[in-house]
Amino acid sequence: MKLKKVLLATTNAGKVKEMKRLLGFYGIDAEVPDEDLRIEEGSSSFLENAYLKAQAYWERYRKPTLADDSGLVVPALGGYPGIFSSRFYSHEYGGKEEVIATKDDANIRKVLRLMKEVKDRRATFVAFLVLNLGYSGYWSKGECNGVILTEPKGSGGFGYDPIFQPEGSEKSMAELTPEEKDLLSHRGKAVRNLMSIIKNGGLT
Ligand code: IMP
Repeated sequence: MKLKKVLLATTNAGKVKEMKRLLGFYGIDAEVPDEDLRIEEGSSSFLENAYLKAQAYWERYRKPTLADDSGLVVPALGGYPGIFSSRFYSHEYGGKEEVIATKDDANIRKVLRLMKEVKDRRATFVAFLVLNLGYSGYWSKGECNGVILTEPKGSGGFGYDPIFQPEGSEKSMAELTPEEKDLLSHRGKAVRNLMSIIKNGGLT
C-alpha cells in the first residue's frame, strides 16, 4: 500500500510549508488540521514529544498522522533552547524576554543575549518525526550542524533561521532558497530518512 496523504500534527506555518514541499517530492499530500490541539509537551525528549503529538492527532482525526518535534540545541547553553525552542523567550532559564514583535523575534533576541560573550558558537538543529498509522508507526531523525551568528541575517525560513549558519555554508539558514534549506536542514534529512524507512512512501 502506498502512503498518499498524511495529516500534519501541527499548525506551525513554517513547518507546514516545509513539510508540504518535502513530502510533495514523494507524491504525498500533507493535510493541515483545522484545529490546534495544543498538546502538553510534558516529556524531556524530542522523540517523546513527537510521539505525543502524533498520538493526540491520531486519536482526534483517525488518519495517518505525521508529527515533527524539533529545535535548536546549543552546547554552550547546556543544550537550551532544545525542547523549549518554540517558547524559549518565556522560559526561566536565562531570564524571560519580552515579545515586542513576534515570538520568533523574542527567541532570537534571547539566544543572542545569552551568547554575547560566548566563544563556542556551535549549534545543532534537530528534528524527530513520528508517523502514526494507528496499527503501526515509524520514526526518524535529522540533524544539521552549524554556528550561531552574532546578528540576524536574511528573511527566509522561520524560527531561529536568521541566526543559524549551517556548516559549509556562507549564508544563514534564512538566506538560503527553500530548495537549499531542504537539502541541508534537519527536517529535510528527517523526511528523507523516514521515506527510506517506509520505502519512499510505499508501506510494504
Ligand atoms: P515545536 O513545535 O515544539 O517542535 O517547536 C519547534 C521550534 O523549534 C520552532 O518554533 C522554532 O523555534 C524551532 N525550529 C524548529 N525547526 C526550525 C527550523 O527549521 N528553523 C528555525 N527554527 C526551527
